[in-house]
Amino acid sequence: QNVLVINGPNLNLLGTREPAVYGSETLADVVSHLVAVGQTLNINVSHVQNNIEGELVNAIHAARGQVDAIIINAGAYTHTSVALRDALAGVEIPFVEVHISNVHKREAFRHHSYLSDAAIGVIVGLGSYGYEAALRFLAQKK
Ligand code: DQA
Repeated sequence: QNVLVINGPNLNLLGTREPAVYGSETLADVVSHLVAVGQTLNINVSHVQNNIEGELVNAIHAARGQVDAIIINAGAYTHTSVALRDALAGVEIPFVEVHISNVHKREAFRHHSYLSDAAIGVIVGLGSYGYEAALRFLAQKK
């Protein structure tokens, strides 16, 4: 199967951004690891990162008919974006929502997600392993 990993705003700074919260691995490290894990699971992993909300909407639209599932960390747009929610609903691609940090341990404004009730499932607080966990979940899901 084909899985698209989408990372939203500021996740390009992974590894250098608040390492106590988000860890020291870079986004490139995380993505190359996911591609390698994907190979062992027979999953073709593609990746897009963008800081711009509308570009994320465009990436979701472009995925229609191309991928079986999405793994998305929408960053701060998680807590603000009706547009991303509508895009995911519009393309009808099943998705897993991932957050590196445990958003429920953090500020109240991070406790609400516009995506969660539309997601297959949500993984928070497992660090960058959350992406791998999502991938392994999708590999065994039928
Ligand atoms: C995040 C949590 C969000 O609240 C924050 O805005 C991020 C990263 C996470 O992966 O823990 O940018 O999605």
